[in-house]
Amino acid sequence: MTVAELKINSHQRWTLEDIPWHTIQSDAMVNQEELFNILVAASFIEITTDLFTRNLLEYFSDDKEVTLWLEQHWEHEELLHGYSLKRYVQTVWPEFDWERTYQAFLSEYSNYCRLDLLEPTRSMEMAARCVVEMGTASYYTALSRLSPDPVLSMLAHHIREDEVRHYKHFYHYFLRYRQCEGTSRTSVLKALWHRLKMIDGEDGLIAIKHVYLARHPGHQFDKHVYRDLRKRYQHKVRRHIPLEMSIKMLIKPLGLSPRVQHAAVPILAGLARHTVV
Ligand SMILES: [Fe+2]
Ligand SMILES: [Fe+2]
Repeated sequence: MTVAELKINSHQRWTLEDIPWHTIQSDAMVNQEELFNILVAASFIEITTDLFTRNLLEYFSDDKEVTLWLEQHWEHEELLHGYSLKRYVQTVWPEFDWERTYQAFLSEYSNYCRLDLLEPTRSMEMAARCVVEMGTASYYTALSRLSPDPVLSMLAHHIREDEVRHYKHFYHYFLRYRQCEGTSRTSVLKALWHRLKMIDGEDGLIAIKHVYLARHPGHQFDKHVYRDLRKRYQHKVRRHIPLEMSIKMLIKPLGLSPRVQHAAVPILAGLARHTVV
């Protein structure tokens, strides 16, 4: 799908034209290497949504409601996120060869977009999708809060709103499949945990690796470099992550009673504050 197609064939709530690109404060982004890495990595992953959409469409092929929404709304919006982040990166860092780096990323990343990497049941896959959307909603909220450039804040806010809506859709489909498949809470927990571990896994690593290699030609990229980059990235975003919102979204598919959930959220938030972020 091209940028032009995105404009005509979509139900999205905002478009590339809604972003005041000419007012970007590039000066505010000088020496923001962590933000540069984060934005390029996010643009790579979002813009590759079409590859992953094919897997989801095949997995849910006989469910018209789900496939229509995926094709007509979800994919469009995720691609719009990718195109808008790409445009932002190219405006602020015109010296960076986005296209070339993306091709290197894609040749490696496409191996990880396989049908057999989806969850074993549809309800579990929907629960896993909720984790992904929770992750992106939290991430763009943080980005919107910490950005020194108001245009990036606005862009991240638009994307964040889309991700929250995606979560609601996947959660709605999750409830439907949980009921017809009779999914146990243990299976849901397994899917949530599995996907949560993956959030910090291959997707980000491959993207960050290619961005790093493009920025530092001739350098080695190993786990020490990655660990160091991650530490710097976490230091940048940790204070801005909406932890309580993230945890509520994460545990919602478990269907805990309101009392248990109310008690669990601050405990998990406290734990996450000292471990995850
Ligand atoms: Fe997205
Ligand atoms: Fe999304």
